[in-house]
Amino acid sequence: MQNDIQEVLISEEELSTKIKELGAQLSREYEGKNPLVICVLKGAFIFMADLVKTITVPLEIDFMAVSSYGASTKSSGVVKIVKDLDVSVEGRDVLIVEDIIDSGLTLSYLIELLQNRNAKSTKVVTLFDKPTGRTVDLKADYTGFTIPDAFIVGYGLDYAEHYRNLPYIGILKPEVYSN
Ligand code: PRP
Ligand code: MN
Ligand code: MG
Repeated sequence: MQNDIQEVLISEEELSTKIKELGAQLSREYEGKNPLVICVLKGAFIFMADLVKTITVPLEIDFMAVSSYGASTKSSGVVKIVKDLDVSVEGRDVLIVEDIIDSGLTLSYLIELLQNRNAKSTKVVTLFDKPTGRTVDLKADYTGFTIPDAFIVGYGLDYAEHYRNLPYIGILKPEVYSN
């Protein structure tokens, strides 16, 4: 275990089991719909890759990069589009893939954007949900794990761009970000 990690909250195996369950549900939901599956970079990149392998129906993928946290553990409240989609969402059944919902600001911004661009449907799958962080009213359609109020890293999630490569979800030692 890496030095800066206080404890492993969710193991690789637990992640993999949960993602297979989500993939099975999504395969039923999107049968015959050719959904456009959108990965919200950077945090969702590992979840996206593992999730789409468990979805058995035809689909298309695209990527969007947005950022609101920067090098902080708190959201700035301003969502910045760093990279937009390559394709149009008009008339498409869109599935947004997120790693975590905390305040809900990133997703509420994205959902409104995609609805304004006339997506036929807009659903959200998030691997983690931290309901205690919510400042806007937002619920995912599919959630992997509900997590406590701690700053987690790994499996795509960063603190100041580090720890994304950890294969598990860890809780960061408070001293790493408190000084
Ligand atoms: C993180 C995370 C979600 C968002 C959730 O992204 O990956 O996208 O914050 O927080 P919210 O519900 O409070 O908006 P971040 O802005 O850190 O960018 P990153 O994905 O590139 O790390
Ligand atoms: Mn993100
Ligand atoms: Mg981040």
